Amino acid sequence: MDEQEPWNSTKDDEETPLQSKPLFLAFEPLPPPTSKFFQMQEAIVEPNLFAPTSKSNPILRFLITLLFALVIAGTVWLGYDYFRDHKLHNEEYEEKISKLSLENILADKKLLDYTLRTAAPLFASHCADCHGANGEGNQTDRGLFAPILNDSDWLFDNQIDNLYTTIVYGSRAMMPGFRKTLSEKDIDNVARFVKAMSEGLGDKEPAGRKVFLSAGCTDCHGETATGSKSLGAVNLTDSIWRFEGTLDGIRRTINYGVNSGDPNDRISNMPSFAEGNRLNNNEIKKLAIYVSKLPELAHHTPRH
Ligand code: HEC
Ligand code: HEC
Repeated sequence: MDEQEPWNSTKDDEETPLQSKPLFLAFEPLPPPTSKFFQMQEAIVEPNLFAPTSKSNPILRFLITLLFALVIAGTVWLGYDYFRDHKLHNEEYEEKISKLSLENILADKKLLDYTLRTAAPLFASHCADCHGANGEGNQTDRGLFAPILNDSDWLFDNQIDNLYTTIVYGSRAMMPGFRKTLSEKDIDNVARFVKAMSEGLGDKEPAGRKVFLSAGCTDCHGETATGSKSLGAVNLTDSIWRFEGTLDGIRRTINYGVNSGDPNDRISNMPSFAEGNRLNNNEIKKLAIYVSKLPELAHHTPRH
């Protein structure tokens, strides 16, 4: 070695320039933003993976396609499973309905929900024409065409078995016409008495009451005129009218009767739904339950 290098020699600096330069000078400055540079950036940063002619990463494209396929397959599978379950449940419910008594169906919350849900469209297509969409009855200018089902005033009982029987066999409540057995005067008096009763003023028509008690009206309507559930004879003391509630209308009902065969009688005809298999037994059971719940259901649905 000839001479010791001075401590502040610059030799090292030349060999390892990075160590001696300040750090910010160690990097090349960015190239100026020419238009060519931007074209390049675009080509790198925004490859259009979905363009059909894209030459972009084939693996990525494959994975995306696979993901789509899996999502579609999964949806189809879940949907199929749901409907199969649903169908199984429905079959189970129908089986239970065919075996259980009406009371037991009413007591099973899930079965009851199913019953009401499936009875609603049956009611709409078979019963609503006469009884109204929500069982509110159908008012014609001659009175109620078919009775209200969503109130608590029943011709017969709302005992569930009676409702079932009415739907199975139908019903034609009968009242004879009195024009041949009573004088016009008696009919007028008894009609006035009936009208007064509905207004709570029965006491004001003693002549009419006498006719009522002696002409056989009580056989069906009862001593107190509150009706007979087994005969379907209406309560005459309330203000609910099946037919016309005017004095003239009441006179007419008493003169010609109900389903009496007289050409001027009131017609009240509920068809049988078991006849000719118009409805099967499960459907009739469901409807009996539906009707028994109409007073409650009507509470939640607006009356029309
Ligand atoms: C053609 C018209 C008509 C159709 C359709 C009809 N009903 Fe009736 N329904 C009547 C009439 C009229 C009465 C009253 C019968 C009587 O006077 O005995 C009645 C009575 C009833 C009663 C007895 C009401 C009470 O107060 O006790 C029930 C329950 C009933 N219907 C349910 C149904 C159901 C459920 C359906 C559908 C499956 C149906 N009805 C279809 C006309 C009809
Ligand atoms: C054989 C039984 C029977 C006898 C007897 C009878 N009725 Fe009736 N009556 C009925 C039935 C059933 C109805 C209801 C029909 C229906 O709603 O489908 C009825 C309905 C009526 C109605 C119509 C009520 C309404 O809401 O529009 C009047 C009014 C009436 N009866 C008065 C009388 C009078 C008064 C007598 C006696 C002179 C009498 N009835 C005798 C069975 C009878």
